[in-house]
Amino acid sequence: MIRHFLDLSDFDSATLTSILDRARALRSARNGARDGVGPLAGKVLALVFEQPSTRTRVSFDVGMRELGGQTLMLTGAEMQLGRGETIADTARVMSRYVDGIMIRILDQDSLQELAAHATVPVINGLTRRSHPCQVMADILTFEDHRGPIAGKTVAWVGDSNNVLASWIHAAARFDFSLKIATPPELAPSRRLLDWARAEGAAVVAGEEADWAAAGADCIVTDTWVSMGDSEAERRHNLLKPFQVNARLMARAAEGAIFMHCLPAHRGEEVTGEVMDGPQSVVFDEAENRLHAQKGILAWALGGDTENN
Ligand code: CP
Ligand code: NVA
Repeated sequence: MIRHFLDLSDFDSATLTSILDRARALRSARNGARDGVGPLAGKVLALVFEQPSTRTRVSFDVGMRELGGQTLMLTGAEMQLGRGETIADTARVMSRYVDGIMIRILDQDSLQELAAHATVPVINGLTRRSHPCQVMADILTFEDHRGPIAGKTVAWVGDSNNVLASWIHAAARFDFSLKIATPPELAPSRRLLDWARAEGAAVVAGEEADWAAAGADCIVTDTWVSMGDSEAERRHNLLKPFQVNARLMARAAEGAIFMHCLPAHRGEEVTGEVMDGPQSVVFDEAENRLHAQKGILAWALGGDTENN
């Protein structure tokens, strides 16, 4: 069985928990892992970007090196993919050269097709539909600051996008409550909410930021205009009442944290006061991308034992 990492919904809770445990162990051992002889020594990971990236690109690159492996950075435009070579053929060819492929590509079907034809693990580095690696880092960050996430309440306020979809998947697997507030025009899809319900997840969607934030242990938001989105002005107008500001944070539980996958836009989805304030853990969250990515890489490319 090839260990693809495509969506949190593909996994059971035990596997995701073990990946995070591995991430924590690797974080603790980080200094010792810098000697180049790590669990992925001799392995090469291809990093393919069809869209821009800072955190995903750097954390996978550094993470792979810290595990003893090497990386190869590619953009879709400079590959023959940009000239019409099929995803399936690209997958077959790359599988002959590298030990794993991390890809950021907007089209989820293309990601699935790549995984279907690759004979090495494929990792989802963001599609229009989901961003599972981000939310693994987010769970790690929540638990660093607030303890076990099971039984806690997370409020998502703003646009319904790829990161939210992975939060919905996570709510089902990590057993926490997720309250979602979006404008009705930008609500999560019925399909996604039905999936959550069928999984028994405590996911509820509404249209009031104040309602979602009330008593939450964490408030999360994201950009109002994701990669590939159009109608930026319309989105801004719809989303203005969903800005995370000090007034909204005050409705959350005592000790509540603020998270954002970044990049952030101060004055839009979050005020500078919240972003740079004491409840914000966004830079710990960004750092945890590195540790979470290492957990995922060790699982996908190196097997799941401590010595592998
Ligand atoms: N959060 C995140 O995925 O950031 P990048 O787009 O910089 O990779
Ligand atoms: N929702 C954002 C996340 C960026 C990391 C986007 O897709 O652009």
